[in-house]
Amino acid sequence: MKLNTLKDVYVGQLKDVYSAEKQLTEALPQMAQAAANQKLRQAFKNHLTETENHMQAVRTILDDLNENPTSTKCKAMEGLIEEGREIVQNGGDADARDAALIVAAQKVEHYEIATYGSLRTFANSLGYDDAARVLQSILNQEYAADQTLDDLAMGTYGKTGLNTAAKN
Ligand SMILES: [Fe+2]
Ligand SMILES: [Fe+2]
Repeated sequence: MKLNTLKDVYVGQLKDVYSAEKQLTEALPQMAQAAANQKLRQAFKNHLTETENHMQAVRTILDDLNENPTSTKCKAMEGLIEEGREIVQNGGDADARDAALIVAAQKVEHYEIATYGSLRTFANSLGYDDAARVLQSILNQEYAADQTLDDLAMGTYGKTGLNTAAKN
């Protein structure tokens, strides 16, 4: 797609993140199934519900602009998911695998945070106030998902996290 205006960039990134969220709705159930730790499994399941909502919300924003997302595939998310799949397939110690699943998932969240941060800013600049609010609330959920993974990896309130369990 030829980029001539900020709106072109905005629409292109919306289509990209729609594809990213769609791919994630298919990958997160597998990551949940692969997680040995109960809390990590639940975190993946919770974020699956949020991810389905993000996908729908982005679809609505695109619909309002009379844009159709179906032809775009997010190659970055495809690669991130592939790395997660390799972790699952390679097997090994359950705790070590959980630690690896967390880093794979955090790479996904950081990718989403970068995209939604820019999209929110574009929407503000373009005067799409309602869309900017929606994108900000998605961004907040991505930050929260990332924080949950941090807490699981490192532990909270004096308890040790999954990284400690994976040491030996
Ligand atoms: Fe998301
Ligand atoms: Fe996410």
